[in-house]
Amino acid sequence: MMLNRNDLCWCGSSLKYKACHLEFDEKLISLKRKGHIVPTKKLIKTKKQIEGIRKSANINNGLLDLISENIKEGMTTQEIDDLAYNYTVSNGGKPATLNYDGFPKSICTSINSEVCHGIPSKDVVLKRGDIINVDATTILNGYYSDASRMFMIGEVSEEAQKLVKVAKKCLEKGLEAVKPWGFLGDVGAAIQEYAESKGYSVVRDFGGHGVGLDIHEEPFVYHFGKRGTDMILVPGMIFTIEPMINAGSYEVFIDEDGWTAITKDGSLSAQWEHTVLVTEDGVEIISR
Ligand code: MF3
Ligand code: CO
Ligand code: CO
Repeated sequence: MMLNRNDLCWCGSSLKYKACHLEFDEKLISLKRKGHIVPTKKLIKTKKQIEGIRKSANINNGLLDLISENIKEGMTTQEIDDLAYNYTVSNGGKPATLNYDGFPKSICTSINSEVCHGIPSKDVVLKRGDIINVDATTILNGYYSDASRMFMIGEVSEEAQKLVKVAKKCLEKGLEAVKPWGFLGDVGAAIQEYAESKGYSVVRDFGGHGVGLDIHEEPFVYHFGKRGTDMILVPGMIFTIEPMINAGSYEVFIDEDGWTAITKDGSLSAQWEHTVLVTEDGVEIISR
């Protein structure tokens, strides 16, 4: 789509192109000419789309708050899933993972050596000492938001507490590396450096992802890598950062249920996930 200077801008602002995104588009074209990877238009959200994603995130955040108030020893992961389904639907949303690619539940629950994509079950009871990741993805009016948190059930070993804390700090390090017109590779590098400095490893087989109009969009967000590489981060991009940090090796296998990723060496794993928006002057957490 080739716009003239006096046409209305593509972003829906009702401003003329020359007074709105013309300069922005020229900057992208010039970066691309220099050989950089730049996001396609679809990855740059308009004001209206950002508002829609924020509203979706309000439900997603409210759900994770509700889970954090209710999760406890003796509860099954199916009961957490019921809570998630009921809360989401009664707020007008839809759990995005339910029937996604055949995934049967409304959230993912991954305990101890489970890395991600654990399936809630009435047969899995939370025990004292467990660490669990609950990952929620909400659709509202076609807009998607995605976040996950760790919960510690009762008294938890020092080792597990430390892993949970370091995994959270890894997400924060990634977040700090998000700079408008910076490199996506800086995010992975910051996470990997911190995790490895603590003697932990970063899972390679899964990453963060663009999100907003679909559950998984481009770009793939590596949680390891090199500074100054990968896509240029541009205001209006929305993606997740969700490093999975293992106490032992980063290798994982998929359980016979076809979904649950588990550490090969049986070591503990922890993960925190935010949906973030790149802004003109930094980054904003949309879903936490
Ligand atoms: N919320 C997950 C993510 O962070 C999506 C899981 S897809 C599922 O990307 F099918 F495994 F649920
Ligand atoms: Co998620
Ligand atoms: Co995600």
